[in-house]
Amino acid sequence: MPSLNTASPVPLDQLSRLRFSAATAAFQIEGARTEDGRGTSIWDTFVDTPERVIDGSTADPSADSYHRWREDVALAADLGLDRYRFSISWVRVQPDGRGGANSLGLDYYSRLVDDLLEAGVTPFPTLYHWDLPTTLEADGGWLARDTAFRFAEYTQLVADRLGDRVEHWYTLNEPAMTTLQGYAVGELAPGRFLLFDALPTVHHQLLAHGLATDVLRRAGAESVGLTNNHTHVLAADDSPECAAAVHAYDLLHNRIYADPVLLGAYPDLTALGSPELPIEDGDLALIAQRPDFYGINFYNPTTIGPPPADSPIPFDLLPTPGVPVTGFGEDWPIMPETLTALLLDFDRRYGEALPPMIIGENGASFPEPETAGRVEDADRISYLDGHLRAVAAAMADGARVDEYTVWSLIDNFEWADGYTQRFGLAHVDFTTGERTPKASYDWYRALIAQARA
Ligand code: NOJ
Repeated sequence: MPSLNTASPVPLDQLSRLRFSAATAAFQIEGARTEDGRGTSIWDTFVDTPERVIDGSTADPSADSYHRWREDVALAADLGLDRYRFSISWVRVQPDGRGGANSLGLDYYSRLVDDLLEAGVTPFPTLYHWDLPTTLEADGGWLARDTAFRFAEYTQLVADRLGDRVEHWYTLNEPAMTTLQGYAVGELAPGRFLLFDALPTVHHQLLAHGLATDVLRRAGAESVGLTNNHTHVLAADDSPECAAAVHAYDLLHNRIYADPVLLGAYPDLTALGSPELPIEDGDLALIAQRPDFYGINFYNPTTIGPPPADSPIPFDLLPTPGVPVTGFGEDWPIMPETLTALLLDFDRRYGEALPPMIIGENGASFPEPETAGRVEDADRISYLDGHLRAVAAAMADGARVDEYTVWSLIDNFEWADGYTQRFGLAHVDFTTGERTPKASYDWYRALIAQARA
């Protein structure tokens, strides 16, 4: 078993204050797209459209967790995880996005929850990890206000069935990616290219979070929050034009989501051309109900420069020079110290309004074999070690972080990148479904045990 990185050890005194978790998402691991009355989501449409997914894969069977969930629970328990973050598929529960529950779909999550509890791992589900029912997309998807109310209705169905055993909930995963990649530039489902006309999806997702928070709290939930993809924005140069571009990107990626949830108001959006958000009376009060935690999914910083002439957007996304990269190449630069900076920025910007933060996802993909076998993933260990130390450094400087979550427990379907990017602590052979713990699994297991000692 590899030992912890003793040359620059993670400061365990800080880490003993963290809960440890690992995450997956329904569409990425379950497969079984047509079983037990499951409906279709925007991701079914996306993967069934030629050329959308880089390797033409369809997420079925992926890791086949709809049938092999017991193996996932065993992996989570053997790691010593405090909590397992998984997501619930809206279309297994409510195949048309409206109306009563499909009990066969809920049975699956009920069994998963029971098995986790029996194994001593706290279930920590996410209600929405990107798989919107196609019926709702046909009516406008997240551009339509009604979708927020449909989400609250679905949340009620889940709470009615699981609320007696599940106490901790994420409402939404990465609303920023849904808006930016899903509706603004179309690299993820539903694949729309609306640029700034995508912005109503910000408000409707946050409204959905607010309405669902109400539902879950009335059902007795102990903690409710959401998790967003946040990035630390680096300026490509020190020109005023670059500073303006950095400000615009920070608004669009970070503040337009965090400010209304934590401060009850949207930031000044003048730098984005002052788009009108479809806010109605009472919305902001719902959105700003104090969450019990604020989730931050962190992968990499973003380097921003001024927009080229005639660009329809007020910034340019640039490579970050001189740093190592993950399997995504220069799009995913590795700079753990920017996670420390981001956590301290949040702490300073939101002060008392900020509940404890949770790292809802952190991890990296590297090229790895497809067939089952032991993977010595030293690069992943180094990435995780660096980012855990970055979290510990922020905690030592006063940021309150309660939990750290590795993306991902197992290799899975990486959205538009199909099976070309592997993030798992355990390798999955997508032909046989066989799971094999990687070196990083053993590393994380030893780290958790040491933090507990
Ligand atoms: C963010 C998403 O929540 C998750 O689904 C995805 O696989 C990882 N990041 C890696 O891209």
